[in-house]
Amino acid sequence: MNVLVACEESGIVRDSFIAKGHNAISCDILETSTPGPHIQGDVSDILKYKWDIIIAHPPCTYLSNSGVCHLYQKDDGLGNGERAINKERWVRMYQAKIFFNKILNANCDKICIENPIPHKYGIGKTYSQLIQPWMFGHAESKATCLWLKGLPKLEETNNVKDEWRALPKKEAQRMHYLSPGPNRAKLRSKTYSGIAEAMANQWG
Ligand SMILES: C[S@@+](CC[C@H](N)C(=O)[O-])C[C@H]1O[C@@H](n2cnc3c(N)ncnc32)[C@H](O)[C@@H]1O
Repeated sequence: MNVLVACEESGIVRDSFIAKGHNAISCDILETSTPGPHIQGDVSDILKYKWDIIIAHPPCTYLSNSGVCHLYQKDDGLGNGERAINKERWVRMYQAKIFFNKILNANCDKICIENPIPHKYGIGKTYSQLIQPWMFGHAESKATCLWLKGLPKLEETNNVKDEWRALPKKEAQRMHYLSPGPNRAKLRSKTYSGIAEAMANQWG
């Protein structure tokens, strides 16, 4: 199968499909951090080619529920309770939504887009499935939504929820407590290997 892994610099999903014998390539505006077939550039330019499956991880900064508070300015404290909109943030949110939909509407029969829980102003809550890393062998929590076209829901492979629950809070919420630094965003957005392997095994 010809597999396009869009918006992936880590190569994790790409390499899981390659390990199953597929012709997979990742694409990101960044170079890949793991050597392998990779196109560095805007994925919009290559969506038109004939792919058997597209798996995409588009940026979530302006679409996810955790960032919804930034759509409005802070309360001015004047007591009327009204908050002005943050125009720049709304523009960026619409740009992110257009990019997301460009991938979802690509001419390909099988598409999966992965993103955190969205807020109601962007793509809305019309995702197909919500998964957690603890469903795929990682004792961690990070609610992740999948928008699926022509693909069945991903089945859990190794449920370790009880192990995750038994962990001290700081370990159980490892991603949340990652120390600040230049690589924090990259580390937080890396796909879990158990999820990547499940995608390759079940959809490959
Ligand atoms: C949320 S991160 C996903 C990271 C991914 N899960 C991984 O394991 O590498 C979003 C990625 O989209 C990339 N990106 C943003 N705009 C892009 C575009 N127009 N074309 C290709 N990649 C893009 C970013 O550089 C970033 O690596």
